[in-house]
Amino acid sequence: MPVQVVDGIEIHYVETGGGGTTLCLVHGAGGNAQVWMRQLEGLAAAARVIALDLPGHGESKGDGRRRIEDYARVVRGFIRAAGLGPVVLGGHSMGGAVAQTVALEHPELLAGLVLVGTGARLRVLPRIFELLASDYAEGCAFVNVLGFSRAASQALKDGARAAMLGTRPSVTIGDFAACDAFDVMPRVGTIRAPVLAICGEDDQLTPPKYAEFLATKIPGARLLLVEKAGHFVQLEQ
Ligand code: COA
Repeated sequence: MPVQVVDGIEIHYVETGGGGTTLCLVHGAGGNAQVWMRQLEGLAAAARVIALDLPGHGESKGDGRRRIEDYARVVRGFIRAAGLGPVVLGGHSMGGAVAQTVALEHPELLAGLVLVGTGARLRVLPRIFELLASDYAEGCAFVNVLGFSRAASQALKDGARAAMLGTRPSVTIGDFAACDAFDVMPRVGTIRAPVLAICGEDDQLTPPKYAEFLATKIPGARLLLVEKAGHFVQLEQ
C-alpha cells in the first residue's frame, strides 16, 4: 500500500481507478480501509477511489486519537499532502463524523460528502465500552452482532470482526469515546456541500433516523435507505 506522511506519521492508503472525481473514504471505529473493498473495486471505473487507514489502524503508523476533531485534522492533512482537494469525502460511522467535521471546518477541501451509516450525534451504548474493556474479543463480537443485517453472510461478518480484533483495544476504545462525545446536531445544517446520506434499513448502531436527520437538516441532501443491510451497508449491499 502507498503511504502519505501527515504530521510526521505514515498514513497508508489503498487507491484504485483514476481521473475524474476523487473519492476519499474514511473507515469507522476500530476498522480499516478494507471496509471499502466493494467501493474500491466497484467505483474504480467512475472515479479515483482512495481509502485510507487512520493513524493506529490497519497499516498506518502512530496512535489512535480520542477526538473526532483530531482525526479530521489527519484527514485534512492527508488531502493536502496528497494534493487531492477538492474531493468527494465519504465516511462510514466514525468516519462520517470525521467527514462532517471536515465539511464544517474546511468546506474548501470538499466537492461533496457521502455519509454512510453515521449521524450528527453518535452516542455509544455503555455495554460496548464495558465489553471492550473487560474482554476485547467479546466487545468486538457484540459490535459485530449489532453491525450486520440478518441477510449478511458469515464470511462478511467474520471479515469485519477480524479487522476490529486486529486493531489495538486502546485504539478502538478511543474511537468509541470520540464517537460518544461527537455532536454536531445544532451545526450540521450549515453544511453547503452536496450530500448523500446512506443507511441500511436494518442499521442498529446508527439507525435510519440518524440519516433522515442529516437529509432533513442539510439543504439539498439526498437520502438513500438500503434494504437488507445493517450498519456495514457498504459491505452488505
Ligand atoms: N440523529 C438524529 N437523532 C438522534 C441522533 C442522531 N445522530 N442521535 C440521537 N438522536 C436522538 C435520539 O433518537 C433520541 O431521540 P428521542 O428522545 O426522540 O428518542 C435523542 O436524540 C437522544 O438520544 P441519545 O443522545 O442517543 O441519548 P439516549 O440516552 O436516548 O440514548 C444510547 C443513548 C447509547 C442508548 C443511544 O444513543 C443508542 O442506542 N445508540 C446507538 C447504539 C450505539 O452504541 N451506536 C454506536 C455509534 S458509534
